[in-house]
Amino acid sequence: MTEEQRWSRKRKRGRRHKQKKTLSSPDGATRTTTKSLHTSASDSAASNKSNPKSSFLDKMKARLLGGHFRMINEKLYTCTGDEALEYFKEDPALFNVYHAGYQEQMSHWPEQPNDIIIKWIKDHSPSLVVADFGSGDARLARSVKNKVFSIDLVSNDPSVIACDMSNTPLETSSIDVAVFCLSLMGINFPNFLKEAHRVLKSHGWLLIAEVKSRFDPSTGGADPNKFVKAICELGFSCQSKDFSNKMFLLFYFKKKEKLDSKKQIEWPELKPCLYKRR
Ligand SMILES: C[S@@+](CC[C@H](N)C(=O)[O-])C[C@H]1O[C@@H](n2cnc3c(N)ncnc32)[C@H](O)[C@@H]1O
Repeated sequence: MTEEQRWSRKRKRGRRHKQKKTLSSPDGATRTTTKSLHTSASDSAASNKSNPKSSFLDKMKARLLGGHFRMINEKLYTCTGDEALEYFKEDPALFNVYHAGYQEQMSHWPEQPNDIIIKWIKDHSPSLVVADFGSGDARLARSVKNKVFSIDLVSNDPSVIACDMSNTPLETSSIDVAVFCLSLMGINFPNFLKEAHRVLKSHGWLLIAEVKSRFDPSTGGADPNKFVKAICELGFSCQSKDFSNKMFLLFYFKKKEKLDSKKQIEWPELKPCLYKRR
């Protein structure tokens, strides 16, 4: 074995060891992190100048992370909420990988739907109680004065309730605003909306932001009118729609009546949002 091969093996062993390092999260669980993958990418920017090999390795690392993100993303769009909950229970570190990739994708969007929803909440009363279904890093809760229940599959923050959002611990008729910001991911998304209907007070708001391509019938996406019709049949009235953004659609509904569980609602299929390799 040449000196060069020995050196390369040593570096690979070191990196594997770093990736396996475990950290304690705020909820007390011990989990494997991918932190070293991210930090080492920035740490090595300086060494890239002197060592072209590390620039190549960083590219490979980024590619690996991107691939991992796309795999988790596809899983979330093609399974039910309870399957997604089990998936992350088995390996909570995947949640961090997903969110690192998601943030990277979102950094290319000219406008964030979360910002529009945050502005909407700020323009209304701070006394409104909000439930953020699929809250991610709970940025919404941190950005407004309102009481916000943040709900997601994994809780990396004590304020986030970890559960499948089709079955939350929220009390019936206790919420003024239910938010779904790019979070209607599971194939049983109608159950997420039924849960929102249960927890919302009468005349409570349902705000939905979803990826535009999921609603493009010319490429296999859902007809947005059928989506609105199904939600109205669930017991909401559509107050307004905003299709002006290039990347996402916004829907604003109000709860109007009790859910008739016997009613057969025809839900359109929402195609998965699969991200391209960059
Ligand atoms: C695309 S991210 C959006 C995060 C955040 N709303 C934002 O706009 O930045 C979707 C989030 O929904 C969560 N999610 C998907 N299905 C869920 C379910 N069944 N129950 C709870 N959270 C879910 C995912 O874990 C993820 O954090």
